[in-house]
Amino acid sequence: MVRLIERGICFVWFHGPPGLSAAGTGSMTSRGKNRGNPLNLRYMLSFVRILKTPGLFPIMKDWQTLVRLHFILAAHESGLLKALAVPCERQELVKKLEVKRPDLLEALLDVGLAAKELGIKDRRLFIKGKRSKTITNAGGDMLAAMIQASLTYYNDAYRNAAHRLQGGELGDDLQKMGDLVARFSKIGEPIIRDFLAGIVAGKTPMRILDVGCGSGALLRSAHAANPNATGVGVDIDEAAVRQARNNIMEWGLADRFRIVHGDVGHPNEEIAGPFDLISLMNLLYYFNEEDRVGLIQHLSAMLSRRGVLAVAMNCHSKGTDIGAANLNMVNCSLKGLTRLPSLDEITSLLKRCGFGRMDIHHFMPGSTFYGIVAMRQ
Ligand SMILES: C[S@@+](CC[C@H](N)C(=O)[O-])C[C@H]1O[C@@H](n2cnc3c(N)ncnc32)[C@H](O)[C@@H]1O
Repeated sequence: MVRLIERGICFVWFHGPPGLSAAGTGSMTSRGKNRGNPLNLRYMLSFVRILKTPGLFPIMKDWQTLVRLHFILAAHESGLLKALAVPCERQELVKKLEVKRPDLLEALLDVGLAAKELGIKDRRLFIKGKRSKTITNAGGDMLAAMIQASLTYYNDAYRNAAHRLQGGELGDDLQKMGDLVARFSKIGEPIIRDFLAGIVAGKTPMRILDVGCGSGALLRSAHAANPNATGVGVDIDEAAVRQARNNIMEWGLADRFRIVHGDVGHPNEEIAGPFDLISLMNLLYYFNEEDRVGLIQHLSAMLSRRGVLAVAMNCHSKGTDIGAANLNMVNCSLKGLTRLPSLDEITSLLKRCGFGRMDIHHFMPGSTFYGIVAMRQ
């Protein structure tokens, strides 16, 4: 019973008793005025009855999480979080953000306050929630990209699943996603850094070809593990290439690595071997099964005598890894991507292409994110 009443309080907290919302009152500080209104026990018991609805409580909690993420998305994309780096009043925000619809800003702020992502003191709003704070910190961009991807392209995979299951056309968003995917893909950087260190550290020469280089983060990690490393990153997506070039410049690595715009499957004189390492991180599912043999053979021919091929990616989850399963759902919903291959399918492919030795790295418990270092002898 006590637990149910606690849950009821939580319900009240989220919805607010009548009049708690600042919307319509024109004043955020009106929140404080309502705090003293006592809750009537009769209504508490009615809430408890509502909460007895089977399944309601867990769904309500998930829904709150979703609302919170929606708030963070809007607050990030509208510049609100940036503007609140310094606490300020609503009128200042209207000016800073050049807001044309103050009611909508008011509504967004109200969600932020109710979700406790924002706080208010002496009429000045500030960022209160851990998630919003992290996003505004250095390095928070990857998390912002994760939320943006989840609520846009990933969300679309589920929203359109019903008609696509019946043969409806797959999405063609891949070209628009390059920048976002490259920002989001940085999530695996610490693992990739260690994986690469085991391959490149202490080896000279170390010429690298990073296929589908995205943000260019892999080249930076390779350089951190081996300052002699040089090479090329290639990406087919213009926005990803722009991002990688900017990053490589910013990291002071422009004299070590060149970023080439192009399709790795097509001959390109800027991508000439031999390479001591060719890396394919989160890439194979951009190629149809029938094209993968040709791709791997083409890359194999560019390896130096002792050169290795390194593949790292989420493999098919088979019901065990929600991250990989979610990615697979997106892959199967978009034109230009394929379902995630299983680890066995990848190792068989590499064997077929002449890679007789393989080291397999299992990166995380409960995850199907694997690394494979493949050698020809
Ligand atoms: C999921 S992202 C991974 C980015 C990066 N490797 C990482 O793990 O952070 C895959 C990248 O491969 C690129 N790509 C796909 N097909 C390609 C091709 N045929 N040639 C070059 N790049 C390609 C995409 O544009 C995208 O930037």
